Amino acid sequence: MTDFKILAVSGSLRKNSFNTAALRAMQELAPAGVTIELAEIGDLPLYDDDVREQGYPATVQRFRAQVAAADAVILATPEYNYSVSAPLKNAIDWASRAPAQPFGGKPVAILSAATGPMGGVRAQYHLRHMLVSTNSHVLNAPQIMITGAGSKFDAEGRFTDQAGRDLMVQMIDELVKWARRLKA
Ligand SMILES: Cc1cc2nc3c(=O)[nH]c(=O)nc-3n(C[C@H](O)[C@H](O)[C@H](O)COP(=O)(O)O)c2cc1C
Repeated sequence: MTDFKILAVSGSLRKNSFNTAALRAMQELAPAGVTIELAEIGDLPLYDDDVREQGYPATVQRFRAQVAAADAVILATPEYNYSVSAPLKNAIDWASRAPAQPFGGKPVAILSAATGPMGGVRAQYHLRHMLVSTNSHVLNAPQIMITGAGSKFDAEGRFTDQAGRDLMVQMIDELVKWARRLKA
C-alpha cells in the first residue's frame, strides 16, 4: 500500500475521551502505507454565517484544508442526547459551505464509543444522515459501536477489546478499498 492519508476527527474534546482513544488505537493499527492524522476541532469557533461572509477564520481554513487533502476521513462521535456531539456538528457545518466544500465526494467511515449499552448507534445514524447533505460516500461496513466504553479501555486509554480491534483493522482496509474504488 502506498501513501494513503486518513484524517481522523473525534467529536469529543475531553482529554480522556474514549472516541479519541479509539482513533489512537486505529493510528496504531494502520498498516504500512496508511497514515492516520488526528484533527483538532476544539479551536473552531461556533458556526456563524456572518463570520463566514467575512472570510473563514484561520482555524477553519486549516480544518477544511486537512479534510480536502485527505484520501479519506474517519469520524468518531460520542452520543450526546441521542445525537452527534456539538463540536463535531460544528466542524462539519464549517466544512460544508462553499467554495469546494471538502466533504463532497469524500470517502468517510464512522465509529462511535459511548458508556451506555447502545454504543452511540443513534448518533451514528444522525451522522450518516448529515453526510448525505455533504454528498460524502460513507462506508457501510464494518460498523463499529463501542458499547460500555468505560470497561474497554485501560488506565492509559488503550483500547483492549480484541474483537473491536479486529473490526478497526477491517474498517481501515475496507475504507482504503472503498476510496480506491471511488477514484477508479
Ligand atoms: C451531554 C451528554 C449527553 C450524553 N448522552 C448520551 C446518550 O444519549 N447516549 C449515550 O449512550 N451516552 C450519552 N452520554 C454519555 C457518553 O456516552 C459518555 O460521556 C462518553 O464517554 C462520551 O464520549 P467520550 O468519552 O469520547 O467523551 C452523554 C454524555 C454527555 C456529556
